[in-house]
Amino acid sequence: MRCYLHAFLLCVVFTFFSLLYVFSQLASTLEDRGEWGGVDDGTPGRSAQDTGHVLRKTPSLAGLGDREPGLDSDRSGSVAKEHHDERSHLAVVACGPRLEETLTMLKSALLFSQKPLHFYIFAEDELHESFRDALELWPRTFQAKFTFTIYPITFPKKNAEEWKKLFKPCASQRLFLPLILKEVDSLLYVDTDILFLQPVENIWALLSRFNTSHLAAMAPEHEEPRIGWYNRFARHPYYGKTGINSGVMLMNMTKIRQKFFKNDMTAFPLTWEEILMPLLQKYKLNITWGDQDLLNIIFYHNPESLFVFPCQWNYRPDHCIYGSNCQQAEEEGVFILHGNRGVYHNDKQPAFRAVYEAIKKYPFGENMETSLLQPLEASLQTTTNTYCGRVSHLFTKKLKQSISSVHQEKMMDITSK
Ligand SMILES: *[C@@H]1O[C@H](CO)[C@@H](O)[C@H](O)[C@H]1NC(C)=O
Ligand SMILES: *[C@@H]1O[C@H](CO)[C@@H](O)[C@H](O)[C@H]1NC(C)=O
Ligand SMILES: *[C@@H]1O[C@H](CO)[C@@H](O)[C@H](O)[C@H]1NC(C)=O
Repeated sequence: MRCYLHAFLLCVVFTFFSLLYVFSQLASTLEDRGEWGGVDDGTPGRSAQDTGHVLRKTPSLAGLGDREPGLDSDRSGSVAKEHHDERSHLAVVACGPRLEETLTMLKSALLFSQKPLHFYIFAEDELHESFRDALELWPRTFQAKFTFTIYPITFPKKNAEEWKKLFKPCASQRLFLPLILKEVDSLLYVDTDILFLQPVENIWALLSRFNTSHLAAMAPEHEEPRIGWYNRFARHPYYGKTGINSGVMLMNMTKIRQKFFKNDMTAFPLTWEEILMPLLQKYKLNITWGDQDLLNIIFYHNPESLFVFPCQWNYRPDHCIYGSNCQQAEEEGVFILHGNRGVYHNDKQPAFRAVYEAIKKYPFGENMETSLLQPLEASLQTTTNTYCGRVSHLFTKKLKQSISSVHQEKMMDITSK
């Protein structure tokens, strides 16, 4: 009995080793032909094991993705952007009778930019169709340079009415852009009464000058404290010596969403989403300029987060109505014009209105020297009886350069074809 058992065990062992031999032979033949699983890295045995590993891991990875879709798509989105996105992302909020003014702003963005643009247009529902129709009528060569998306005005449900009442209709929408456009990394927000006199990519490039604590960039509200508003009248904290103006606001929204903001309401810092409503509740009786005041309060408590760019990036009537006080504009010309207080539509500051009219009337595709610059210079000549008209050469200094570099680009396109 014992002998049989021994013989049997011997047989089993022998069979095992012969099978092993056959397999190893088979393996080495396949290896020579390089056909093991079609994997070409490392030894066949290892790659077979790795394949098994990956197969086992895949379902759990997919499960993780399902549970955290936001995280997943955010990451792939930002990877895609790093590699392919050379666009400047421009946002505007348009309500009431601002359709034409907004279109003129977008036109100025398009005329002088060499790089592609994406427009995020937040507007009241009744304006959506007019925006779409107008933009789709722009000539094809210009259409190729931009894409756009139109959004309704939205507020956090809980306090929608309160937010809508604050300031002019819809103006506080800009505070919510980092929360609404969750997939967007960075954004240039501008008011509807902005005109670009140089390529949008120039201001976009300031994002790369942000240090690790900067998350937004704006210009001071005033250069001259003697006529400053905040330093004379504000009943709330404000940034710096004269406050900041939010008509041109460059944001790294990824950083805004990540930041915890110091404040004077809680002992611990709050996220952007958490800070807005308590801030409004605390200061609503003391603020005059709505959401711009809230931004001033936030950056008063977090000054290291703000990158301040000089006044020629947000040039307003205040910079010239009592005499010229924006020194950087004196040196380099106006980069971005901001016709606040309705000056594009009344007769108070004819120099500002002249720029608006010239850009609005310029027919797409015509020569910009003769159909934009020359008529503008002629009409600015008639405004020299005003303080702003007297420095109107600052309005065209940068514009001239922008126009001639667009022309050069065009010539190079033509000669290279
Ligand atoms: C609002 O203004 C009043 C009057 O200047 C001041 O006494 C009060 O402290 C201010 N409120 C806040 C929250 O700063
Ligand atoms: C914005 O900040 C994030 C996080 O620091 C960074 O990854 C991203 O590159 C920044 N975007 C730009 C346009 O600089
Ligand atoms: C970034 O620059 C601001 C000034 O604009 C400064 O207050 C802040 O300390 C700087 N942050 C870092 C991390 O260097």
